Amino acid sequence: MRVLFIGDIFSTPGMKVVQAYLEQARHEYDFIIANGENAAGGFGLTRRHFQQLREAGVDVVTLGNHGWDQAEAVELAEETPRLVRAANYPPGTPGVGAATFQARGGERITVAQAMGRVFMDALDDPFRALDAVVEELPDGQALVVDFHAEATSEKKVMLYHLAGRASAVIGTHTHVQTADETVVRGTAYITDAGMSGVQASSIGMGFEEVHDRFVHKLPRRYRPAQGRGTLSGVVLELDGPRARSIRRLQWAAPDADRDD
Ligand SMILES: [Fe+2]
Repeated sequence: MRVLFIGDIFSTPGMKVVQAYLEQARHEYDFIIANGENAAGGFGLTRRHFQQLREAGVDVVTLGNHGWDQAEAVELAEETPRLVRAANYPPGTPGVGAATFQARGGERITVAQAMGRVFMDALDDPFRALDAVVEELPDGQALVVDFHAEATSEKKVMLYHLAGRASAVIGTHTHVQTADETVVRGTAYITDAGMSGVQASSIGMGFEEVHDRFVHKLPRRYRPAQGRGTLSGVVLELDGPRARSIRRLQWAAPDADRDD
């Protein structure tokens, strides 16, 4: 089974490049996962963003620390398991932290998310939350985990924790694609899949306002960077529950196809 994982989609340039890529490449994949927690100008996603991603061919959208920034996302999470939030929220939080789907080839695949706790808001234990997901997993079924976390150390330890038990542990949240993709005991891993958006930016936001905040300590309001987006993600080749390979993907529309 070939799975595409699209890294954090940031604002309109991120949405546009994902739509442009999937228009011509969606049929190359059996299943498509995208982190969409920054689609709405960096802060969450609305019903419209979710629908546009579904229409483009995305099977499951994952969230993160900005997941609830738009109130509509809370409603959506209660309506559909195709929006997956972190599994280590406290019991009673709307939505699901893991859900199982049928890929285009007929195989079943579980998608789960957890959030890290290092340099992030306090949450329940992500290791134990994902242990619970693994325990529920039927034998031989693929499991792709989006580990939304800041610290490289925590992400790499999650690889060690789940190696041989998950098909893939894909890091998100830091918005810069790392070059450390690997497969350990059949578990594909990358510290960060990267951001789908304007790469010449402060992880998606325009430089000017962020620069003012750092240099002059002015309380400037962030504005999403404008311009052409690049899609960042990884392509996984899964053999039942185990990964055969992981490949980094970066894609920008050829000049002729660009409309901005
Ligand atoms: Fe995030």
